[in-house]
Amino acid sequence: MKLFIDSADIDEITQAYSYGVIDGITTNPSLIKQAVLHQKSKSIEGDLQSGDIKILDMKSYLDSLFVVAKQTPISLEVRGGTADEMYAQARALYSKFKTKFNCVVIKIPINSQIEEFSDVDEMQGLQVIRRLSHEGIPTNVTLIFSPEQALLAAKAGATYVSPFVGREDDFIRSNAGLTYDKNAYFEPEENLSDNGIESGLELVRDIVTIFTQHGFQTQVLAASLRNPRQVREAALVGAHVATVPLSVIKAMVRHPKTMEGMVAFTKDFVSEYDELFK
Ligand code: E4P
Repeated sequence: MKLFIDSADIDEITQAYSYGVIDGITTNPSLIKQAVLHQKSKSIEGDLQSGDIKILDMKSYLDSLFVVAKQTPISLEVRGGTADEMYAQARALYSKFKTKFNCVVIKIPINSQIEEFSDVDEMQGLQVIRRLSHEGIPTNVTLIFSPEQALLAAKAGATYVSPFVGREDDFIRSNAGLTYDKNAYFEPEENLSDNGIESGLELVRDIVTIFTQHGFQTQVLAASLRNPRQVREAALVGAHVATVPLSVIKAMVRHPKTMEGMVAFTKDFVSEYDELFK
């Protein structure tokens, strides 16, 4: 299974790539916004000395992410709208980076219909995926909350589909009136489901099963993972990729018994053995 970092923050991304286990990056508009605010606050802190407030140049900023990513895939999202609008946004994004960094993946919502785009027909996302896939432009179909949506995306030629594990768990728990910690692992409960899907991880598992049974090449990218156990289960059910925030990558390496063992081993090193390190 590949491991992507779910972030747009250059400091986090650089740190994550330095561990040698990261295979790509996923961004979304909210992550980009956080990164912009972070960069601006850093720049304002600096400007307390220099007196020169900089506006973030997004193209240069993303160029620096691409440099760190070293040709591993980076998902960049389109704003939405009609198929023609999303297609134009996708082409603009793709061509801005493709000559230097041929690893842009265009993130398309499975259904771009919202109040702001109320005249937009719900099937526009699929049409863009099909168009981009015919042109050989990789797509990551986002905001997947049902196997049916994933099936349509795969039929349209998506490179990846992104089922949102944590948000699906949020949906099931909030519909049941439960209070919950968004980052906590959700143990599926009898009689709680979203149209038969009992958890975000079951959503991932069903999509993997459908794609395997029917020979789809589309990869399942488990997204909205918020704790290590969800990453483990995404791997167990056969997700091709898991995208995780830096905090989760770090939590994956921790175990109290590992720390306890380290304390004992560190204490037990004899000086004769230490000689070997010289
Ligand atoms: C990644 O592609 C998704 O946008 C992201 O994983 C969503 O995560 P969240 O539900 O924790 O915001």
